[in-house]
Amino acid sequence: MSNYEKVKIGNATLYLGDCREILPTLEKMDAIVSDPPYGIGFQHNGGGRSLVPCCTDKIIGDDQAFEPQFLFDALPKKRNGGVGNILLFGANYYAKRLPDGGEWMVWDKIPRCGAKDSFRDAEFMWSSVKTPRTIFRHQWKGLIREGEEASAKQKRVHVSQKPVALMMWCIDSLIVPLGGTVCDPFMGSGSTGVAALRSGRQFIGIEIDKKHFDTACERITKEQGVFAAS
Ligand SMILES: C[S@@+](CC[C@H](N)C(=O)[O-])C[C@H]1O[C@@H](n2cnc3c(N)ncnc32)[C@H](O)[C@@H]1O
Repeated sequence: MSNYEKVKIGNATLYLGDCREILPTLEKMDAIVSDPPYGIGFQHNGGGRSLVPCCTDKIIGDDQAFEPQFLFDALPKKRNGGVGNILLFGANYYAKRLPDGGEWMVWDKIPRCGAKDSFRDAEFMWSSVKTPRTIFRHQWKGLIREGEEASAKQKRVHVSQKPVALMMWCIDSLIVPLGGTVCDPFMGSGSTGVAALRSGRQFIGIEIDKKHFDTACERITKEQGVFAAS
């Protein structure tokens, strides 16, 4: 008996379950773009609490150091034997466990913080694909946000939610072919999925927390204007 639930929504297939169990059972995909639990709780307080200001939601898995190898194994290898197309957030927290080469990228959140402001002004990503475009600027400080998520009607749906515009830029930087498949094994509220579908790719998402899985299903259904089918 399978230990997960699978839902097909248009060009997206979403799994509710543990990506460490589900990913090895899937066909190899064109790219992985993901924002995994970084082990922040593990590194800084040991208690698994999220340190994101004004949020009390705990992120499952954030109480352990992150080991990325199983993600590399899910991708077809490059001709030179290197890891396939992958872009990972929070990679500065597990840099020692990344392969040689690749590219560091920055999301500049341009918050213009005051001295007492605890908001981070940047996030770092690691990509296996070399690109000349390594900085993305997009304002994102608590409730001060630009882009589609800035609207008062767009409430924050995940403690670690990423802007759709940022995720579209990440997918483009990996040069995923149109119609190709992007996978986010730690999809949270589905921001990578919305970005993949909007930019003409197929999407596979996995999420272990039912609350976030339901949010992702809702956003991905809305994005495509279709109904879910099990
Ligand atoms: C940093 S958040 C991703 C947020 C996402 N970028 C967004 O925009 O909403 C990481 C997500 O991975 C999920 N997660 C943790 N361990 C997992 C696992 N083993 N399998 C699948 N999902 C997992 C957590 O529940 C959390 O929602």
